[in-house]
This record gives sequence, C-alpha cells and structure tokens, in this order.
Amino acid sequence: MTDIRELLLSRIRDVADYPEPGVMFKDITPLLADPAAFTALTDALAEIAERTRATKVVGLEARGFILGAPVAVRAGLGFIPVRKAGKLPGATLGQAYDLEYGSAEIEVHAEDLSADDRVLVVDDVLATGGTAEASVQLIRRAGAEVAGLAVLMELGFLSGRARLEPVLKGAPLQALLTV
Ligand code: PRP
Ligand code: MG
Repeated sequence: MTDIRELLLSRIRDVADYPEPGVMFKDITPLLADPAAFTALTDALAEIAERTRATKVVGLEARGFILGAPVAVRAGLGFIPVRKAGKLPGATLGQAYDLEYGSAEIEVHAEDLSADDRVLVVDDVLATGGTAEASVQLIRRAGAEVAGLAVLMELGFLSGRARLEPVLKGAPLQALLTV
C-alpha cells in the first residue's frame, strides 16, 4: 500500500451500527480535520481531473461538495453542484434514483453544463452506485460528456463498480481506497 493510501485510511473512522444497526459507517471527518490528509486527498483527486482532461468538476451533495470543491480549485476548473431536489433556484434537470427504501432525486442547473464539457464526478463513497449512476445520467442529459468518476473510497462488497461500468461506457472509475 502506498503512503497516501495508508494516510487516508488512517484518517477514516469506522462507526458501528450507524445510521442503523448492522451498518458500519465510514466517517471522513477526521480526514477533513487533518490538513495533510485533506491536502493529499485533494491533490490525488485533482490529478485524476487532469489525467481525464476534465473541464468541470461535479460534486454530489453533500459530502461530494466537501471533496469536489477544493479539487476544482486545485485543478483550475469550475465546480458544479449536483443537489438533492428542491435546492437549486434556476431551471434544473432532475434524475430520480432508487434507495433501499423509497427513492430520491438529484438536480443540476441545466445552464451549468454544455456539449463542450467533460465532467469528472467526485464523491466520498461509492456504495451501491445508485447516486453516481443518477449523476452520470443527469450529466449526459445536460449534453455534457462524463470524463470519469472519482471517489475517496469504494465499498467493494456492494458491487457498485459492476453496476457502474456499463453505465460509464469506458470512462474511468477511480477509487483511491477499496474497503
Ligand atoms: C452517501 C455517500 C454517497 C452515497 C453512496 O450519500 O456520500 O454520496 O451515499 O451511496 P450509493 O452508492 O449507494 O448511492 P448520502 O446521500 O447518504 O449522504 P450525504 O448527503 O452526507 O453525502
Ligand atoms: Mg453523499
């Protein structure tokens, strides 16, 4: 394991039975509070933005905002928030997706993306892949190209990668850690 992965892993706290019994929550707040770790994470994700020739960074509310915004600044790119439905004031495109119980919807300002854009999606965790899949659909419906998906960590046992690979159609899925 490389140093950066060890550093990042050491700053993620496992919280048992949160938010419900049987779930092991991955708490990234210790990582965010450590400037060396947060900077290393930002640099690693910004390098992916550069490698994929992204022109915009999309962050997925809420934790994808915390990670994605500094990545956009570091890479010299614009940051586009994909928000949970009802939070954006302008004309939006929406995409519904299924949760374990019920469904949710995310939205983006339609004017924020165009056919000239290659978008790197940034989020903290890839679990089932439902949120990321919806974001890919949304970006494409806005007319832009998906340059890739970059996450801090992938929960391998939930098989989000297998779900997303056909959706990404060759765009890379980069996880800095697989847990
Ligand atoms: C969490 C996590 C990812 C998503 C992954 O977000 O931050 O965005 O779930 O799950 P999936 O791959 O099964 O879709 P959540 O909306 O729970 O919380 P947040 O608003 O704190 O980011
Ligand atoms: Mg989230």
